[in-house]
Order: sequence, then structure tokens, then C-alpha cells
Amino acid sequence: MILVLDFGGQYCHLIARRIRELGVYSEILPYNINLDLLKEKDPNGIILSGGPSSVYQNNSPKIPEALFKFIITEKIPILGICYGFHLIIHQLGGKIQSKEDKEYGKTNLTVIEPDLLFDSLETNQIVWMSHGDQVVDLPHGFEKLAYTSNCPIAAYKDDKNKLFGVQFHPEVTNTPNGMKILENFTFKIAKCKKEWILQDWIKKSIEIIRRKVGNEDRVILGLSGGVDSSVTAILLHKAIKDRLHCIFVNNGLLRKNEEFNVQKTFKDKLGFKNFHYVNAEYMFLNKLKDVEDPEEKRKIIGHTFIEVFEEKTLEIESEFPHIKYLAQGTIYPDRVETAATSNAAAKIKSHHNVTLPADMKLELIEPLKDLYKDEVRKIGIQLGLPEEMVYRHPFPGPGLAVRCIGPVTKDRLDTLREADRILIEEIRNAGLYRNLWQIFCVLIPVKTVGVMGDYRTYEYICSIRAVESIDAMTANFAKLDWELLEKIGTRIINEVKGFNRVVYDISNKPPSTIEYE
Ligand code: XMP
Repeated sequence: MILVLDFGGQYCHLIARRIRELGVYSEILPYNINLDLLKEKDPNGIILSGGPSSVYQNNSPKIPEALFKFIITEKIPILGICYGFHLIIHQLGGKIQSKEDKEYGKTNLTVIEPDLLFDSLETNQIVWMSHGDQVVDLPHGFEKLAYTSNCPIAAYKDDKNKLFGVQFHPEVTNTPNGMKILENFTFKIAKCKKEWILQDWIKKSIEIIRRKVGNEDRVILGLSGGVDSSVTAILLHKAIKDRLHCIFVNNGLLRKNEEFNVQKTFKDKLGFKNFHYVNAEYMFLNKLKDVEDPEEKRKIIGHTFIEVFEEKTLEIESEFPHIKYLAQGTIYPDRVETAATSNAAAKIKSHHNVTLPADMKLELIEPLKDLYKDEVRKIGIQLGLPEEMVYRHPFPGPGLAVRCIGPVTKDRLDTLREADRILIEEIRNAGLYRNLWQIFCVLIPVKTVGVMGDYRTYEYICSIRAVESIDAMTANFAKLDWELLEKIGTRIINEVKGFNRVVYDISNKPPSTIEYE
């Protein structure tokens, strides 16, 4: 396995994902872990991530001395990237210098010593840089491997101690040979074996669940129909069959036919017996009556969900006394906070996801807790979850309430649901659904005048939001074809009662968030 030590770099998760794509397990841990944890993890190689600091700054993160000494004595190979590249040199007595002008973007790298790290690569190649400091003096035992016109030492190695470093970022796609460099480090230097195979993971995971839950106990799961909770459900169902109880709450804020589709998939197609459907539409809409403030809406929905979920759990428990576990579809980035994944969005909007109510005396089961989203999707496909569900766009916990600006009413939600159905249908027909991160309609409760036939209309505005993104931290509006937009707009105005005007949102994130509230 390859351990990634996190120095606050925005690409930490990307490094770990790339290593896993190579078929080797990789995990991220903070840079200052203690020695015992390192010994327990027993990595074949360690990658030091980039980070926003400068090595000479006060309090800039350093590799703890005892840890560094152990790694070098045990000859565990290290690859330092950007800040990690500086740090190795700094901590071993070399020299780093601040550059007046930062280097940012693509640049041409010349390799002078291809051995191992640049094995089977051309002498010249494009790499992606983003740095203000640079290495100017290598400690004894180090050898320069590559340079660029702006950066005299862009890669190095210390063969004896198995220390390697690159100033550029091999993990980003802007470094076309980056994967090959990571592959060389992983297999040729760290001598890892391809052992991270999702099919094996599925078998093992089912086995672990079976052992943990035993032959009698039962598990509760809040199923939203999103890919994470759906894959969690299928894994558990494979392991313990009908001792899994799924609770699906219709909060009245779902997309058109969502409650039927999810039930059809799990009950009819996948044969789930204990699928508990709770229709709480009235309760949610009642509590949301006249509420306009976005945060207030989110809080009410979160609390109401927990209330409904607890009540249903108690009801199930009265029939099946062996409910002992609560399963959740938590995935790896949900758990590991790094500079990149600390989810700035969460500070702007209080995200509502299924969390364990504090006083529920249930033990947690989180089978996907070590996986990335793309891995969860691959497992979903292997477990027979329909492609349509596996590749569904993200849908916020508070549902259409945050896409229905101002007060949320059943009429407004129905209008929105219908427009959204048409939009998704057209986007799927155009073959564009998988190209977009998200596309949806928003109801803007401002009435404008229009004309239909010989009649005057006075209705709300429908805004179409379509974005491209990799991780939702940043997003660009999708430059959809005008003719397609015209077709969608025409259909919405003609077919949906309540809208007489459609606008297209051309804002990027930042500054505009993806959802409207
Ligand atoms: P924003 O609107 O903050 O959204 O740019 C970023 C991503 O998060 C999704 N989102 C949520 N997901 N619970 C979720 O699980 C929520 O409460 C929630 N709010 C927003 C949003 O759809 C986008 O993909």
C-alpha cells in the first residue's frame, strides 16, 4: 500500500485515487502521525503531498523527526511532491529559495537521468507546476534528475535512502505522463503488487459484514436512492438478506416519480423484502409552510427527517427486537478532511445528510468508508444496480426545497417536478446526461407577463442550472447548444402549468454555488 501524508495540498485525494487506479491500495493520513500508526500501516511507499506553506515559515508543517528517521532507516521509499519535494531537502540540510515570481501552469521538463522514476519516458515532456519556492542546493547523496527553464532542479533522487521528489504535480491530468511517473514509483521503486481489485473487495466486504452482524441481529439503513446509500444497501442485502431493513422517507421534496422508481428497483428488481416506505410528505410540507429562509428550511428538513426515521425505527424494533446496527453510506472523502475536501460548501450551507441521531443506541456499519465515489460506482455496477441509478447526478438532502426559492408549497413543487422531468428527458435524449455534473430546474417566484395564444399569462420563472465539475468545489456553467436549450425552454413553457418564462443560468462557482439555497 502507498501512504499519502497530507501537508494540506489540494490534490491529496487525487494522489490516492490515482494510486488506486493503478490497482494499489492508498490511504491519506495527516503529516504528523505517530510512529506506531505508521508501523501499523506498514506502507510499501510514502508520498508527501504538496501544501500551501513555505518550509521557512514559522510553524510550517514538518515530517516529525522520529518518523523521518524511521522511514529512512527502514528504507521505505518516499516520493515528495511540491511542498513534500522541498521538505525532504530542507529537513536533510539542503537549500530552498523563494522565487519572486511564482511558476504556475504547464512547462517543459527535460529529464537528464531517467533511472526508475522517469523510466520509459521521453527526455522532454510537459508537466504542470504550481510553486513559489524552489530547491537550489541538494544535500550530499542526492542527484538531480530533471530541470525546466525556470526551475534548475525539478526532480531528484537519493538512491541509497530511496528518496525521490518532483517539483511538479504528476497526479493532475495536465501532466500527461504523470500516471507513468506514479506507476514507476509505485511498482518499480516501492515494489507494490496490484492487489486493490474491487471484485475481491466486494467478497471481503460481504464476509466482514456477515461476521460482524452474525446470524441473528438486524440492520437499519436510511435509503435515499442516491448511489452511496443504494450500494450500501445492496452489499448488506447480499450479506444478511432480509435482516436488512431499509427506510425510505418520502419528504415530498423528491423528483417526479422518485418514490416509485426507488421502490421498483429495490422491491421488485432486487427483491428486498424489508423495504419500509414512509410517506411523510404532509408532515414535511406542513413544517415548511411559510418558511423562506434557506438555512431555516435546511434545519427543519434535517430535524424532521431524524424524527421520522427514529419513529419508524422504533416501530420496526417493536416487531424485530434484534435491530442492533445502523448502516450509512459514508464514503472516504466524507471522512478524510484535507485542505481540498474540507468542503467549503459545508460552511456556506448546512448540508443535511443522514447522520446517526445521538440517542439511538445502534452501532454503526459503514461498508464504503474507504472508497472513492468512482469506486462506489464501479461496485454498484458489479452488484447489479441499474446504470441509471449508479450515474445519477447528485441530489441535495433537502431536495427540491432548495430549488424552490421562497416558500415551498405542493403546487410550486409539482410545477418544478414537471419542468425537471422534461429537462432530464431532453438531456438524456441528447446523450449529454453523463457529461454534466448536474442539471436541474429552479423555481424563481417572480411573476412576469407572457402571451399564450390570445391570452395574457402571468406566471413564475424557471431557471435552468447546468454545471460541469469534478468535485463540486468549483464548477463552470455548461455551454449547452442554443437549439437544445430552445427546445427545452419551449417544452417547459408549453407543457408546464405555472411557468411562462425560462432563463439559463450562466454563473460559475465560485462565486455562485451550484444549488440556489
Ligand atoms: P453547492 O450548492 O454548495 O453544492 O455548490 C455543492 C454540491 O453539494 C450538493 N448539495 C448537497 N448534497 N446534502 C447533500 O448531500 C445537501 O444538503 C446538499 N446541498 C448541496 C449540490 O447538489 C452540489 O452537488
